Order: sequence, then C-alpha cells, then structure tokens
Amino acid sequence: MSEPKLPLSQTTKELAEASPGVRRMFERGRELAARYGADAIADLSLGNPDLPVPGELTRALVEVAREARHGYLPNAGLPELRELLAARAVRESRRRVTAAGVVITVGAAGGLAVVLRALLDPGDEVILFSPYFSEYPIYVALAGGRTVVAEGDREHLPDPEALRAAITPRTRAVILDNPNNPSGSLADAGRLAELAAILDVAEQPIWLISDEPYADIVFDGLETPAVLDAFSNVIVVRSWSKTLSIPGERIGAVLVPSDTAAWSELMANIVFANRALGFVHAPAIWQRVLARVPDLAVDPAPYQRRRDRLLQLVRAAGLDVVTPRGAFYLFPAVPGDDQVFAERAAALRLLVVPGSSFGRPGHVRMAYCVADEVIERAGDSLARLMR
Ligand SMILES: Cc1ncc(COP(=O)(O)O)c(C=O)c1O
Repeated sequence: MSEPKLPLSQTTKELAEASPGVRRMFERGRELAARYGADAIADLSLGNPDLPVPGELTRALVEVAREARHGYLPNAGLPELRELLAARAVRESRRRVTAAGVVITVGAAGGLAVVLRALLDPGDEVILFSPYFSEYPIYVALAGGRTVVAEGDREHLPDPEALRAAITPRTRAVILDNPNNPSGSLADAGRLAELAAILDVAEQPIWLISDEPYADIVFDGLETPAVLDAFSNVIVVRSWSKTLSIPGERIGAVLVPSDTAAWSELMANIVFANRALGFVHAPAIWQRVLARVPDLAVDPAPYQRRRDRLLQLVRAAGLDVVTPRGAFYLFPAVPGDDQVFAERAAALRLLVVPGSSFGRPGHVRMAYCVADEVIERAGDSLARLMR
C-alpha cells in the first residue's frame, strides 16, 4: 500500500531533504562543541565572518537607532541609498546606472530569490558553474526553474566551452560568483570577456547574474574585475554580509544598468518580487546606516594571513589545493569519497563540507573565517587524518 500523501508541499520537502549540505555540518559542529567543548573542535563548516565590524559602522547604527524611525519604506528601498549605490557603480564602471536600477534586498540570498522570480517561468533554465554555492539550485527550483551545470575548469574557474555546451533555447540566465564560494578562485577580466562573447551570440538574450558577496575580499593585490563592463545583460547582486561582517543583519542590493534588455519591465518585476515574496523591503535601519557609510569595508588582510597558514597546513598534510585569490574558503581535493572524508574528519573533531554539496565531489570546503588557533587545531586533525 502506498504511503498517504502528506498535506504539505512535496516539492519543498524533497528540496529540503536533498540539500542538507552546509547546515548539517554546522549542526554537527554544535553537537561536538556541546560534547567536547568549543575549544576542542575545529569547525571550518560555515562562512560566518569573524572579523570585528568597523567602529564607524557601530557609530552610524547608534545614531540611526536614536532617530527611532521604523516605518515602512518604498519596496525598492531608501532613495538616498539607491542614489549612492548607483553613483558608485558609475564611478567604478563605464555603464549607466541610475537609482531606478537599484533595489535594496534582504541580503544577496534575498536578492537572488527576487531576481530569479523576476526572470523565470516554469522550466526555464539557469546555468551554474561547478563548484557553485550550494543554495543556488534551491533558489532556482523554488522560482520554478531548472538548474543546468557547466563544469568549471581545473582551477575551479568558469569554463567558456562548458558554458557554450550548456546553452539551450530554454536558457534564461547564468549565475557567476566571483570570487567563488567554495573555492576562492577569481576569474580575471579576460575570462569574463570570453564568457561574455559566448552569451552575446546566443539566440536569445541570456542574463548574467553576478552574485558578488565576496567582491571586497580579494588578496595578493588583485581586484575583482568589473562585471558591469564585461557583460551586456547583467544583473549584479551585492551584499554587505561579508564586506562588513554583518551576515545576521540581512542586507544586500540588486543593480541593473539601464541599457540592458527589457530594463524597465525587469526592474518592475524585481521590485514586485521583493514585495510579493514577503520581504516587503529590506530592513529599514540597515538601509539608513549604510546610507551614512556606503563605502565602508573590513580590511581583508587577516583573511589573507589565515589563507596562507591554512594552505601551508593543508599542503603539509599532502592534499592538493588551488591557491584561493579571494573569499575565505579553501577547496582541497581529497582522497576517496568526499562524504566519507568529511565524516572521518568529524570523528577527529574537524568539520568541513563535502564538495558534492557544491557540485564538485572529490573535494571538501574549509572556511577559514575563524580564529588562528582553530586553524592550528584543524591542521593537527588533518595531519592525523592523512596519516
Ligand atoms: C556565494 C554566496 N552567495 C550568496 C550568499 C548569501 O549572502 P547573504 O548573507 O548576503 O544573503 C552567500 C553566503 O554565504 C554566498 O556565499
């Protein structure tokens, strides 16, 4: 006899069951910390930035709190902040961006949900390069779309040939995250130009969605290349979660240059989706705070130092790893099955996330936005595991 059908969404249930990924390791870390004490484990499972928030941000927050203005805002966000972000995009690129092309969102996650809802009809396809941020396929599915994966290259960079092969008449968008979570790889302007050349000759307009929460966290004197200059039909999704170490505050933005395909209809869809998905608008207090300090960012130097140390430890343990140029993740190749490797690491109190969660098995992700001593403990566990 078949099971009675539960009175709830099977689609949501199946998606949740198929995507335990990062959060499961995070829960596992909490269990281990409760059992052995937080000082005895090395939890590299979650990208929760640990650098202190800049003092200037806290001062702006206190000032805004004193104003005690807590009413609704326009769905697209606070006009002053939208103006400031448009002006910055104009300064940093050759594109025309106006305040009407900027919508403030509930983090990059909220921005992506809104953009996908604005673009997709059921069955439309979205191309992801592997390794990809593990939440993307969920956002695509919840917006009614279908994920198509294009293999990244050996350095975990988006591969132009794989992109060409993945395009079909149903392709509506491609998501790029540069620098990349989970690998920290950074595509340069040349690589972006190669990808753009392929999208430009596609039969139908294809949107490049540039998800850039780590755009301000790059190392070795490099800069994140400007996607606004590279792609014609481009939607930028930004976030202050990592830029200012405030992921709990849920604030980000979507930005679309005014010379893109169907711009005014697209902006109307994005603003409507921001309202209709139940966000209404992004948190008012943070919009007012950011309007006071729009260019503030944490100094990424401590992340670079930790990257260097963890690279040393991982290579000393005998693992192969591409040197990350940004974000705060290392993505070494591991022997055997990545899920088994992650389980064995957890038994030695080291928490990492299997690469299969990011569409690239045979690797694990290590988040190094943690204290130096946690990195040292991780190195000890890794050396024992590899022995
Ligand atoms: C690649 C990527 N995109 C989006 C997000 C979501 O960011 P936010 O906190 O701004 O919603 C994250 C968070 O880790 C991420 O790594």
